[in-house]
Amino acid sequence: MKKIAVINGPNMNLLGKREPEKYGNLTLESVNQAISQKAEEWGARCEFFQSNSEGELVGAVQNASAADGVILNAAAYTHYSVAIRDAIAAIDAPVIEVHMSNVHAREEFRRQSVIAPVCAGSVAGFGAKSYILALYALTR
Ligand code: DQA
Repeated sequence: MKKIAVINGPNMNLLGKREPEKYGNLTLESVNQAISQKAEEWGARCEFFQSNSEGELVGAVQNASAADGVILNAAAYTHYSVAIRDAIAAIDAPVIEVHMSNVHAREEFRRQSVIAPVCAGSVAGFGAKSYILALYALTR
């Protein structure tokens, strides 16, 4: 059974209430439930972590080094956290960058991802399904 770490960054704890026109109405808990269900179907087990703090996210990425894969929505840190980028580069597990919204169709600053070059791939723009597509890539 594959072990997958699902890590969410700042403000993702507010899903469901936060800018629903961009991120939908589902809470983070229900998104995580949907991921868990698919993981079971695809022979994987997920562990979930969310933090608003950069240092805790660096720790979570480091702790996921023994996982078979990492699904990471670093949220705003995507666009400027060299510390999170270095943590991704430091571990062997493949990390998939995920965004619910299509970051390329939004403000200019969201088009830059400092983590993309050290990730195995990126998925953006499919709402909660972005996580499922990343899970598919890591498990199928
Ligand atoms: C996001 C996109 C980021 O630009 C933003 O800061 C977020 C969420 C997304 O899932 O679409 O917090 O990562």
